[in-house]
Amino acid sequence: MRVMLREVHDSDLPVFFRQMNDPEALRMAAFTPADPADRDAFDAQWARIMSSAFVVRTILADGDVVGNAAVYGEPGEREVTYWVDRAWWGRGVATAALRGLLAEVAERPLYARAAADNAGSLRVLEKCGFRRSVLARGFAQARGEEIDELVLVLQG
Ligand SMILES: CC(C)(COP(=O)(O)OP(=O)(O)OC[C@H]1O[C@@H](n2cnc3c(N)ncnc32)[C@H](O)[C@@H]1OP(=O)(O)O)[C@@H](O)C(=O)NCCC(=O)NCCS
Repeated sequence: MRVMLREVHDSDLPVFFRQMNDPEALRMAAFTPADPADRDAFDAQWARIMSSAFVVRTILADGDVVGNAAVYGEPGEREVTYWVDRAWWGRGVATAALRGLLAEVAERPLYARAAADNAGSLRVLEKCGFRRSVLARGFAQARGEEIDELVLVLQG
């Protein structure tokens, strides 16, 4: 399987909307929009992402749109984020996509946040060199409660 990153096309957004409304993925990511099924809110959020994120990429696996990955935030505080279609989990897509993103973005440090029980995402981050830094608490919309959140850092 060949994983590639490319610029986001408008036609990817309905695919992201479907991928980012999977109940299991939402529960795992935990820190999600209040109503992920609200298409207008999704479109408004993506308009903001496209105009303000540092780097935003569509993840392709063998040519299929299987997710997205981004670096956002101000210099010195930049964070990575990613989302993979559940049908493709466990095949190394997120790891390959994050490696590709890290090769494109030379700035360090880079930060990441994950629900403390999001073992898949923590594994992806640690395989790519991120190390656990701070444990915080935050309100997780997808769980309807405050949960532990880990901040990880990738040093230069
Ligand atoms: C987290 C996510 C991006 C992982 O995508 P993926 O393509 O399946 O990731 P990869 O296949 O590259 O790697 C996953 C790793 O986590 C491991 N893993 C997955 N679930 C796990 C679990 N419950 N416990 C322990 N390890 C787990 C896999 O075994 C794999 O590690 P390995 O290569 O050592 O075997 C994907 O599940 C997703 O999009 N989830 C919903 C959105 C989300 O949580 N985004 C991140 C927000 S911080």
